[in-house]
Amino acid sequence: MKTNEIRRRFIDFFAQKHGHTEIPSGSIIPENDPTVLFTTAGMHPLVPYLMGEPHPEGNKLVNSQKCLRTDDIDEVGDTTHCTFFEMLGNWSLGDYFKEEAIKMSYEFLTTPIENGGLGLDPDRLSVSCFAGDDDAPKDEEAAKVWEELGFVRAENADPGQKRLIYFFGKKDNWWGPAGQTGPCGPDTEMFYDVIGGDIPEGDNPSTNGERFVEIWNDVFMQYFKKEDGSYEPLKQKNVDTGMGLERIAAIMQGVKSHYETDHFIGMKNKIAELSTGEKSGTDEEQEAFIRIICDHIRAATFILGDPWGVYPSNKDQGYILRRLIRRAIRKGKQLGIDAHFTHELAQIVIDQYGDVYPELTSNQEKIMEELQKEEKKFQRTIDKGLREMLKIWNEDECSKEFTIVDGEKAFFVYETYGFPLEMIEEELTKMGYTIDLEKFRETFHAAMTKHQEKSRAGAEQKFHGGLADHSVECTKLHTATHLLHQALKNVLSPEVEQKGSNITQERLRFDFNWPEKLTDEQVKQLEDMVNEQIEKDVPIYYEVVTVPEAREKGAIGVFPERYDVNVKVYKMGDFSYEICGGPHVIHTGSLGKFKITKQESIGAGLRRVKAIVEGGPAEVEYAGEKK
Ligand code: ALA
Repeated sequence: MKTNEIRRRFIDFFAQKHGHTEIPSGSIIPENDPTVLFTTAGMHPLVPYLMGEPHPEGNKLVNSQKCLRTDDIDEVGDTTHCTFFEMLGNWSLGDYFKEEAIKMSYEFLTTPIENGGLGLDPDRLSVSCFAGDDDAPKDEEAAKVWEELGFVRAENADPGQKRLIYFFGKKDNWWGPAGQTGPCGPDTEMFYDVIGGDIPEGDNPSTNGERFVEIWNDVFMQYFKKEDGSYEPLKQKNVDTGMGLERIAAIMQGVKSHYETDHFIGMKNKIAELSTGEKSGTDEEQEAFIRIICDHIRAATFILGDPWGVYPSNKDQGYILRRLIRRAIRKGKQLGIDAHFTHELAQIVIDQYGDVYPELTSNQEKIMEELQKEEKKFQRTIDKGLREMLKIWNEDECSKEFTIVDGEKAFFVYETYGFPLEMIEEELTKMGYTIDLEKFRETFHAAMTKHQEKSRAGAEQKFHGGLADHSVECTKLHTATHLLHQALKNVLSPEVEQKGSNITQERLRFDFNWPEKLTDEQVKQLEDMVNEQIEKDVPIYYEVVTVPEAREKGAIGVFPERYDVNVKVYKMGDFSYEICGGPHVIHTGSLGKFKITKQESIGAGLRRVKAIVEGGPAEVEYAGEKK
């Protein structure tokens, strides 16, 4: 079964058979959220709704979400790791709960193919439930539903019995928030035995992940994790499920790795066609290079194709994007690809995914241009980096015959010029140095770990806020963001558009297309215009309208690429009318005083401002729907 077919089946199953509404994927760059760089799970864009904001499409939703996880970026190359992936999910926002969720999951997995399911053999399935701890009880409720469906608790099973229920703790059966705080809860996971036959004693999903491949996770989002680490019940009980599309495709196609599924054939053929020069590495290494290129270019295409303005840079998302592209280029060189090639692979990605993610097609030009620019830039950096390397290592008093072990210096080169470790090793060898590889890599990785710990600690301390933060501070700043957005259009140009937004409890940050520094006069005009709206104390509410209606009424903001969906539009007096999930305060008067604190260029015709509001009341009411 082809990957596209699996995606379609999943969505049709929930939409047509079980009354869910199909919604488009959210952005891969989280809006308003400073706690994560990328959308790492299907639930991320839906956090406000899991917290109780009404969703314009109702309480039962289904979609396929673009996700990117970068924790294991350096592991990509083996058969399992990837950065970009698609997550299929069905959602209950305070509607059905454990029983229906589990029964629908089971139905979809085991319904015969000719009847719209995946036709998996129930004897190859096993499941796990939450074992319970001080924060939440053992999930007897979920286990009972599985028992009804013919599963047996592992502790009561006869030898050789299949369809087992295991209980595991938080590490395995709890979905935690992406940031420090947020919605969370126990989950039940479904595993497929990819080997089949007798199961050796002691093998279970927790001890043998190669045999028991996790294919689906139903999360019962019913708690909110607070800043002090404690849990409180959410306003509503939700279901968030996640089925990794690439993984289930590998199972349905009977292959060991998702890189062997139909979705990678086009890219792989193209790589083979382009690899005409001299190759380096063993066959196995070359296989890994191909996987890295496929993964990284697919990810880069989706990042560049997102509605938000991410470009290769040395900061945040832009830095990850740059690393992905450069690593792919480097691997291309090692495979004997001499020409600029990343845009050719991106074209394959766009053709393959454009139907499902139309933003790739509408941003095609940008994707192509940026990839080609980055390839040129990287070439120049290589020359500069190589000169710098000569300088660094020549300053070393030791002669070339001595073994050099200084991985820390290599880490500097890696960080500054984006040279992968093996490229540094290669160049050093060319320069005539002898390397004690083991020690060299050890010191390199030690330097890298030190750096990561530092930046992680920084990130954790810095950020309070995000999608899950419906605090008074964040909500006021969110409302101020809408006023600023409209003011920018009025003061600068109607062409100005939001290119990114990021809100913490302390400040708002807003990116938009504008090529030059704002004059003092413009800054003052913007502040005055926003403050005038605050002083007028205009009421705020939202309406649910279709996309064409929103257009007709002059809404601003990011429109979904689809026309047949409903959106929420927040109205602030006659001043602002913007598509948004919320929440917002109910009167502009409660914002206090608005002030722009900083502006900077973030490259490529983009400007960033930071602003605060101060002096408003400590308690506010939240805006609701127009009655
Ligand atoms: N949020 C859950 C996951 O990503 C479904 O596994």
